[in-house]
Amino acid sequence: MAQLLITGGAGFIGSHTCLVLLEAGHNLVLIENFSNSSPEALRRVLELAGPKAKSRIQIVEGDIRNSDDLDCAFSIASSPIEAVVHFAGLKAVAESFEDPLDYWDVNLGGSRSLLNAMRIHGCRTIVFSSSATIYGYPNEVPISENALVSPINPYGQTKAAVEQLLADVAASEPGWKIARLRYFNPVGAHPSGLLGEAPHGTPANLFPYVSQVAVGRRDKVEIFGGDWPTSDGSAVRDYIHVMDLAEGHSAALNVLQQEAPQVLTLNLGSGRGYSVLEVVKAFEKASQKKLPYIITSRRKGDVACSVADPDLALKRLGWSTRRGLEDMCKDSWTWQMANPDGYSVEIQSLI
Ligand SMILES: NC(=O)c1ccc[n+]([C@@H]2O[C@H](COP(=O)([O-])OP(=O)(O)OC[C@H]3O[C@@H](n4cnc5c(N)ncnc54)[C@H](O)[C@@H]3O)[C@@H](O)[C@H]2O)c1
Repeated sequence: MAQLLITGGAGFIGSHTCLVLLEAGHNLVLIENFSNSSPEALRRVLELAGPKAKSRIQIVEGDIRNSDDLDCAFSIASSPIEAVVHFAGLKAVAESFEDPLDYWDVNLGGSRSLLNAMRIHGCRTIVFSSSATIYGYPNEVPISENALVSPINPYGQTKAAVEQLLADVAASEPGWKIARLRYFNPVGAHPSGLLGEAPHGTPANLFPYVSQVAVGRRDKVEIFGGDWPTSDGSAVRDYIHVMDLAEGHSAALNVLQQEAPQVLTLNLGSGRGYSVLEVVKAFEKASQKKLPYIITSRRKGDVACSVADPDLALKRLGWSTRRGLEDMCKDSWTWQMANPDGYSVEIQSLI
């Protein structure tokens, strides 16, 4: 059990991970600016975690770029923060081409401020949300952690830069315990239907888009590119259920806490790829609905195929994915049906 700081803990991956960490017995401080999330997600995390959880979570409404907010987050708990799980950031590839300044500011500038605050407050353990997008056009699939880091979009550039910053910080001073977790494509939802992905505005990712078509919020699925060099022409991705991903964070934290200082770099994926058309079909089955789609041109910054080599994560964490595409579609659909407008109930009482 540890006192942890979670940045971006109300977001899609953060909220599911907060639940898993509370269930594992950790106490949490969250720093969140709610730019892409709702306090309602946290109320539901508490609902799922049980009546005693409320006393084990503290929320600072603030920005990771603001040193006063960070000082508050590091000082609010009765015991010192032992480790940080760093989710806060901007994550849409297309948007990163339009707003590179924002992406560099939040993703790199925010991470720099956070690391500085960690140094000041004597915390040297961090789990960072990196992304498979840093591999760019992979030379080989499945992609191992040794593959070249060569991002092809501003979002990926910011993630690669933070990975480098973390390596530089670790090299500058002994004692840092760092996990750089390269997620493949996180999807799905908590099976209760209480937590899920609720992006503000038009979803940039396939699953929330497909779910919104199935529930009638959007007309049709837009598939970017039908001429990729894949079996059916649509792009292939390694989808990972968000609950598997959340459990991966818990496993990574345990390893960092138990082992000597290190920089641990791991892919978190299933090792199995599905095409966009296969996902649409699987979602039709889960939702019992016909999903209209159109194939449009490829999106800037996309690649044909991205699938993880998950062997190192299994070896180092004893962790691998347990949930398949059927679970991902079923749980996404349960979430979408119960929450057609996402976290539409806005509450303020938690903060
Ligand atoms: N979802 C994916 O497909 C995916 C894939 C690879 C990596 N990642 C990374 O994982 C992390 C979490 O992703 P997610 O899907 O949960 O995204 P999300 O947008 O749902 O969650 C991010 C959270 O950070 C908060 N936030 C953003 N800027 C902040 C700031 N300056 N200060 C404080 N809080 C801030 C947002 O309000 C949000 O709650 C991100 O760093 C993302 O880049 C996501």
